[in-house]
Amino acid sequence: MIQPIGVFDSGIGGLSVLREIHRLLPHEDVVYYADQANVPYGEKTLMQVRQLVEQVVRYLLDQYKVKMVVVACNTASAAALHYLRETFPDMAFVGMEPAIKPAAQYTQTGHIGVLATRATFQGELFASLLDRFAKDTEVHPLACPDFVMLAERGGPYTQDDQRLVHNQLAPLLAAGIDQLVLGCTHFPFLTSLIQEAVGPDVTIVDPSEAVARQVWRVLEAAHQLNPSTVKGQTRYLSSGDRQHFAQQVQTLLGIEQLQVGSL
Ligand code: DGL
Repeated sequence: MIQPIGVFDSGIGGLSVLREIHRLLPHEDVVYYADQANVPYGEKTLMQVRQLVEQVVRYLLDQYKVKMVVVACNTASAAALHYLRETFPDMAFVGMEPAIKPAAQYTQTGHIGVLATRATFQGELFASLLDRFAKDTEVHPLACPDFVMLAERGGPYTQDDQRLVHNQLAPLLAAGIDQLVLGCTHFPFLTSLIQEAVGPDVTIVDPSEAVARQVWRVLEAAHQLNPSTVKGQTRYLSSGDRQHFAQQVQTLLGIEQLQVGSL
């Protein structure tokens, strides 16, 4: 591996971003770190998340000499992105933020829903997004920790799962939303359950592809794109159950065989 990109999340969520990085930057080598010993991040304090995230970033830098870190987790970005940039001033970071801006731009009803974790809603980043982009829009935030665990458990999803999603989203529908922002990287893996629950008139806004484009832009500007013409390699790591994580990656990314490395 020549200098890889580091990507991390509390668990499988960041794979939704990794999938887009693979599409857009197929020649890059990547190290994906799932901090599953500590999932969910969203129910922890911002300070606890910051400490966990700092350890992950140090590990990626020390062990893999990554050229960039993609914080593929809204919670970690809300809790720690500023702090990481200050602590590691020479490192390039790309983070996540709920896509309030496009949702506020396209809404016809003037009501948008945002699904994220409690911690994400507590961070300053969310308040500043509302301030900057949603002055004339009614934003309905919904913290849904159950969805994180549902995505971690994985399919096949049952009627009970569908009912749970439907019940939790009912207040947003009642409020008249027509845009629903996925503000947690776990949720793209629940898109079919969510779309089924909200119906075809609500647009689901998933920022993963835009984040992959940002990764490309930052690497391009720094002349750090991998010049190789062969497919890059991705190494998968988990601080939790490695075998289980290997199965999750195989299912979610449609990869046949893979090994999850130890930390
Ligand atoms: N995937 C994460 C996010 O984007 C966090 C889920 C969790 O660990 O609570 O917010």
